[in-house]
Amino acid sequence: MKMRSIFVIAILAATTAAVLFHGSVVDVQQSHHTERISGTGGDVLEEDPVGKLKVYVYDLPAKYNTKPVEKDPRCLTHMFATEIFVHRSLLSSAVRTLDPEEADWFYAPVYTTCDLTASGHPMPFDSPRMMRSAIRLIAERWPYWNRSEGVDHFFVTPHDFGACFHFQEEKAMARGILPVLRRATLVQTFGQRNHVCLKDGSITIPPYAPPWKMEAQLLPPATPRSIFVYFRGLFYDAGNDPEGGYYARGA
Ligand SMILES: *[C@@H]1O[C@H](CO)[C@@H](O)[C@H](O)[C@H]1NC(C)=O
Repeated sequence: MKMRSIFVIAILAATTAAVLFHGSVVDVQQSHHTERISGTGGDVLEEDPVGKLKVYVYDLPAKYNTKPVEKDPRCLTHMFATEIFVHRSLLSSAVRTLDPEEADWFYAPVYTTCDLTASGHPMPFDSPRMMRSAIRLIAERWPYWNRSEGVDHFFVTPHDFGACFHFQEEKAMARGILPVLRRATLVQTFGQRNHVCLKDGSITIPPYAPPWKMEAQLLPPATPRSIFVYFRGLFYDAGNDPEGGYYARGA
């Protein structure tokens, strides 16, 4: 539940430009008795978006979202499960509107990372086709996409290099962001600045971690800690890239 609300806050915060997650730096400074955080750890959203922001959630055919999860429930606990939980939380969110005419923002639930191999690795090779197909449908059935080619639309694209949809950096960069998504807002875990797979205005979010795993790590607040916060950084894929090239980067 907690993780879900964090993601919703991240999404809502973007519309008010109140939160800039990507590139945030947290410096942990040690002193004799206490640890202090300085730097820009991300601004806090102070305004309550309820009543000010309305999000319309497209009702897409199940093949774009719930069907793949039924087929492979491992998608629910995978690090890319954000695409599922953002969708679920928006469905019952106070910012949701059922009337697209009054919407400020449109969300299309397309789960592009739920095609897992036997060993649980997501295969993004079908993602571009799936995304293009969903957008074609949205553009045909509703008038809102064509007004601005999706400027007021957002998508969750949590795969390694976001909407570049490839797990190897060179190939992801050569592909670039899927053209049909270039005007929309992308919510993604990939957050490296000045990278072709991160466009301006994207929202960087943490990968999904199942609540029971998070809860298992909870420490009593008074516990002395030498590490205050830890961000997972580079990923290496020794199997596919024995030379040690980058596989993907954490947010
Ligand atoms: C939006 O544009 C596409 C491509 O030109 C077209 O096929 C579609 O019918 C348009 N949608 C609407 C609702 O007019």
